[in-house]
Amino acid sequence: MKNILVTGGMGFIGSHTVIALIEAGFNVIILDNLCNSEITTLKQIEKISGHYPEFYFANLMHKASIEAVFMQQEIHGVIHFAALKAVGESVDKPLSYYQNNLVGTLNLCQVMQEFNVFNLVFSSSATVYGDKNPIPYKEDMPLSATSPYGQSKVMIEQMLQDLHLSEPRWNISLLRYFNPIGAHSSGLLGENPKGIPNNLMPYIAQVATGQRQALGIFGNDYNTPDGTGIRDYIHVMDLANGHLKALAQLASQNSANQTNRNKTSVEAYNLGAGHGYSVLEVVKAFENATGVHIPFKKLARRAGDIAAFYADTHKANKVLDWQVERGLTQMCSDTWRWQLNLSKRANS
Ligand code: NAD
Ligand code: UD1
Repeated sequence: MKNILVTGGMGFIGSHTVIALIEAGFNVIILDNLCNSEITTLKQIEKISGHYPEFYFANLMHKASIEAVFMQQEIHGVIHFAALKAVGESVDKPLSYYQNNLVGTLNLCQVMQEFNVFNLVFSSSATVYGDKNPIPYKEDMPLSATSPYGQSKVMIEQMLQDLHLSEPRWNISLLRYFNPIGAHSSGLLGENPKGIPNNLMPYIAQVATGQRQALGIFGNDYNTPDGTGIRDYIHVMDLANGHLKALAQLASQNSANQTNRNKTSVEAYNLGAGHGYSVLEVVKAFENATGVHIPFKKLARRAGDIAAFYADTHKANKVLDWQVERGLTQMCSDTWRWQLNLSKRANS
């Protein structure tokens, strides 16, 4: 499996995974409509990897644009990141989220089937565990969702299960990401949310540069040791490596399939660190890693948040032979190096 199509490869997780793929010797073809990313990311990828990946400016809503890519390229496998991902926005615009995430995936799978490409790695999310399961979350727990965004991931997982039942050549990894943060260690690539950040680490980084006055901590009366929410943070480059491991697993199932039928599968894997940190612990870690003070104020709980969740990672550790290598300190220092570069670029 040499030629990999990466949908959403210009985005936060996709671009870091593109670096990991290039470094591992894959030919990468990116498809993205830039609705939440910048064309300049291609140059950053080239600076880091020495390779300018092939890029198609295309929208998954248009099936013919996907077909055009498959006609021009011999594709062996697909990593499908492209989606809309803002939970709050999905509550306000459910139709846009269902349309983009579901129809985009439908179109992609139809084209893959037309061109006999059956290897797929799908970006799912810890959000599919809903708010009723006990922690740590395990892959075989029942799925549910508390937002249209989350529901779109639950529905796509179901659709991919049905697809494999109908055609056993489909070979699919459902990667359930926990909380990806951090940036490439070069400081050249990272997360650059548009507008006011919704998520914790990008907000802290903007407080650190003085773009925002203080972090608002959503809730300090949770049933956790310090009263603030606990999440399973994972460095984006560890997450990127998880995709390489998932591709390797699909490839080994394909070769096993040639001698012994029905080796292909749809398997879900949790990609997280396997333990959680509270909001206050993340703030402290950022201050210690960077030497920058982060003022904060305590606010009411954010609607829809739960007290704590983290992953049971045994399946990914064992089956994919994958583990995280980077800790919270590196997540903070890499974020800070990237944020400083971003601010420099904005001021020049
Ligand atoms: P991102 O917004 O940075 O990247 C998504 C990319 O997909 C963007 O470059 C966007 O332009 C592109 N895109 C969206 N719709 C498209 C379409 N119709 N056609 C072509 N391109 C399209 O998001 P990310 O943080 O890199 O997330 C990647 C994937 O991982 C998403 O599927 C997301 O739901 C999932 N995920 C993300 C997180 C997280 O915290 N970042 C957590 C769990 C799961
Ligand atoms: C978010 C998404 C979730 C996705 C997950 C993975 C929302 C509501 N949920 O969840 O679907 O799977 O990312 O990336 O966006 N916090 C503050 N102040 C802030 C921002 C956050 O105190 O300004 C707290 C939150 O209450 C939470 C923790 O920090 O306790 C992490 O928040 P966030 O980064 O938004 O991630 P999730 O809530 O886990």
